[in-house]
Amino acid sequence: MEVLNSSIFLLGLCLLLASSTISSAEPRTQNHEFVIQATPVKRLCKTQNSITVNGQLPGPTLEVNNGDTLVIKVTNKARYNVTIHWHGIRQMRTGWADGPEFVTQCPIRPGGSYTYRFTIQGQEGTLWWHAHSSWLRATVYGALIIHPKQGDSYPFPKPKRETTLLLGEWWNANPIDVVREATRTGAAPNVSDAYTINGQPGDLYKCSSKDTVIVPIDSGETNLLRIINAALNQQLFFTVANHKLTVVGADASYTKPFTTTTLMLGPGQTTDVLITGDQPPSRYYMAARAYFSAQNAAFDNTTTTAILEYKSAPCSNCKNGSSTKPVMPPLPAYNDTNTSSAFTTSFRSPRKVEVPTEIDENLFFTVGLGLNNCPKNFPSSRCQGPNGTRFTASMNNVSFVLPNNISILQAYQQNIPGVVTSDFPANPPRQFDYTGNVSQSLWQPNSGTKGYPLKYGSRVQVVLQDTSIVTPENHPIHLHGYDFYVLAEGFGNFNAKTDTKKFNLVDPPMRNTVAVPVNGWAVIRFVADNPGAWIMHCHLDVHINWGLAMVFLVDNGVGKLQSIESPPSDLPLC
Ligand code: C2O
Repeated sequence: MEVLNSSIFLLGLCLLLASSTISSAEPRTQNHEFVIQATPVKRLCKTQNSITVNGQLPGPTLEVNNGDTLVIKVTNKARYNVTIHWHGIRQMRTGWADGPEFVTQCPIRPGGSYTYRFTIQGQEGTLWWHAHSSWLRATVYGALIIHPKQGDSYPFPKPKRETTLLLGEWWNANPIDVVREATRTGAAPNVSDAYTINGQPGDLYKCSSKDTVIVPIDSGETNLLRIINAALNQQLFFTVANHKLTVVGADASYTKPFTTTTLMLGPGQTTDVLITGDQPPSRYYMAARAYFSAQNAAFDNTTTTAILEYKSAPCSNCKNGSSTKPVMPPLPAYNDTNTSSAFTTSFRSPRKVEVPTEIDENLFFTVGLGLNNCPKNFPSSRCQGPNGTRFTASMNNVSFVLPNNISILQAYQQNIPGVVTSDFPANPPRQFDYTGNVSQSLWQPNSGTKGYPLKYGSRVQVVLQDTSIVTPENHPIHLHGYDFYVLAEGFGNFNAKTDTKKFNLVDPPMRNTVAVPVNGWAVIRFVADNPGAWIMHCHLDVHINWGLAMVFLVDNGVGKLQSIESPPSDLPLC
């Protein structure tokens, strides 16, 4: 009787559990309101009006489960045009919600609003959102965390705690003024005054220690850190004193776990790591500083910190701020390309993946800087680049120009002529020794709004080749609307004969942003299964200003779910 009763009880419990899992696993819709507004923010001893979302810096964290739908009403109460991009979200058939201004929508004017609607499909991990208009993303950004579907678990032991660390960049000036000044003069923009972790510069900057971010940990527990490089113009090294970091994900794709002491993230990239409280209870700095690969150029050489604090750390004097000084980790030299590439080449997918092996589109894009000779009617104040030139940048010698009276996606979808042409070159118009001593006659690109057309479902390979024009440099190249596999990377000029052998066709990592090595190349592959107009660009914002971008124009397929949805009725007009 006892036995029977308890087994009936167990059966009932099972049914109850099963039904509750089923109902709670239903995808949900989350509604949010983002108000873009000027907010007084005090950093580095000085208060200035920053453009924020809901008065927060960083902005609100969005936390969803895979499969959920987000509906975010963005109201613009600032004096600038704005758009929001959901960085890394695939936006299957919802390109209208992607966000880059004049690519998938006209900007939201001051006083206007627009509601972004999209569904998370098959992505898990750490992404983020940011303004995609001028340099507003310096202060308009936040995390977008995607948990597994309810009832699903991580492919690693459940961490005790999860902490998101947004690495940012701060100017003692209005970032919009900084970029406007650079656009006027043609010179490189002023470098930032600080890097930040969750909006705070940390102990090594003036007037900052009392707000330094504290990350708690307990002895013996393993926690998940979600690190996002939201800096505007700088690749960053990140490390934690005395602790190993086990990488388990990047750009909302899981990776085969590997252990390291130092991460390198290009702007746009995210990395998820596990950290275990296996050191003597104390306080340890987490620190980030520049990985800077360009030559003869200025950069912000400061270091931002947060504190990893054991809950059991001896802390008798913590309250008056005179507690033990945290342990400071060594950081790589700013130009330590070996450490950067040892890290970026360690990534693998967790298991064998389906990489397209046949290729329909075999593309080769140079990525790099340039210098425009100054037009005759320009005063010298507008020609402050090297030797009286103006900085520019290009892909395949095309310096990308955004339209200003309609978005590329609207023009493409409605067949409006004269906005975007479908003649972006599949190869550089001239071959040269890309990473050698490039003749100055090749330093001046043409400008244009050119797209590369892709048939629905085509299998695409792109070789991204850095050039040494003006200076070689590591470029974080980001593709909207897709994740791609990174098959290989290397230094020098890509050589199809020898380098193809190095392709990882078994378990290459999936990313949305690849750090193309300085004076080197990276090869990516993806299947064009998402119709729309998708910008691919360098995520150093100053390089977007100079034109380091292009768009893929992906047509609709024939199947029912293979064409882009119709534009929402509140899509902003120019
Ligand atoms: Cu994270 Cu086009 O950007």
